[in-house]
Amino acid sequence: MMPQRSHLVGFGSYLPKKIVTNDDLAHYVDTSHEWIYERTGIVQRHISDEQETAVYMGTQAALKALEFAGEKAEEVDAIFVATSTPDQIFPSTAARIQAELSIKHGFAMDITAACSGFVYALATANAFILSGQIKNALVIGTEVYSRLLDWSDRRTCVLFGDGAGAVLVKAKNKEGGILSSHLHSDGSIGDILYVDGALGIKDASGYIRMNGREVFRHAVMRLSEVVDEALKSNGMTKESVNWLVPHQANLRIIKAMGKKLGLMDSQVIVTVDRHANTSAASIPLALDEAIRGGRIKKDDTILLEALGGGLTWGAILAIY
Ligand code: COA
Repeated sequence: MMPQRSHLVGFGSYLPKKIVTNDDLAHYVDTSHEWIYERTGIVQRHISDEQETAVYMGTQAALKALEFAGEKAEEVDAIFVATSTPDQIFPSTAARIQAELSIKHGFAMDITAACSGFVYALATANAFILSGQIKNALVIGTEVYSRLLDWSDRRTCVLFGDGAGAVLVKAKNKEGGILSSHLHSDGSIGDILYVDGALGIKDASGYIRMNGREVFRHAVMRLSEVVDEALKSNGMTKESVNWLVPHQANLRIIKAMGKKLGLMDSQVIVTVDRHANTSAASIPLALDEAIRGGRIKKDDTILLEALGGGLTWGAILAIY
């Protein structure tokens, strides 16, 4: 009998109501639409209000993913939430979302891998499904990066946005689904992108700090390696990839990866122009848009990749 595989069966997302354009930001810091757009491809971002918490947005995205799949919340075995911006240190965002969905069985946990968080969380869900411990999982990325930003630091505050995305994965005795996942980290270069401090740490700002040039350099290098690794481990060539669904940090990094894979621009899902970098939420937001928009179709091969603070990076190859 065909072994169980994790299939992506439901997709949902949530974006805060408030939109902040590059021109709006130029009122706060010494920047311009041209500078931001030329270097990053970003035009605008969504910013949460007080009600649009990580739990609220994650729950909304999860409900839409369940609706898409025609599944009920009480059927969900596990919830994995990727976030670097939890509303509380604990209970986890995942446990809070579990409660919002009135689920009382199974388990829920948060995974922190900064912008690689969704890839890490989906890889974890896949491992639990392949081991036979669960039959399905909600995998959610939900982020309120506006809380982590120093709004007087033009080098970082223009790059990020808030939002959430969710995917329901389900075990099926059927070919396709997640083919493989590839996770990496290198803590020795953690200081090129980090949050300065945590609760109770003296003299810490609690804000994101970044060496943009170094992050850019590592992103292109590491993502190229991991994409090759994903293809090689499946005995596939780049021609078999129909869609690149990358983490949305910077259009120049995204385009470099599309070019490496020999893809046309139309085969690369881009949301960074409208969402900016929503960290762990960016891939499920992009997936939801591309699937509901009818671009990614059944049996298409999709490649997810991301790099973030840690450094962490990874890729997942899947058939929808
Ligand atoms: N508006 C206007 N000027 C800005 C600016 C802004 N928002 N941010 C920085 N600058 C200035 C800098 O102060 C610097 O001026 P100086 O030379 O007078 O000091 C100049 O622009 C160049 O800065 P630099 O940081 O070298 O720019 P860059 O070409 O590397 O672009 C990034 C900066 C952040 C856009 C780019 O490095 C990048 O995209 N890196 C990857 C970041 C990323 O994706 N992080 C998340 C990963 S998950």
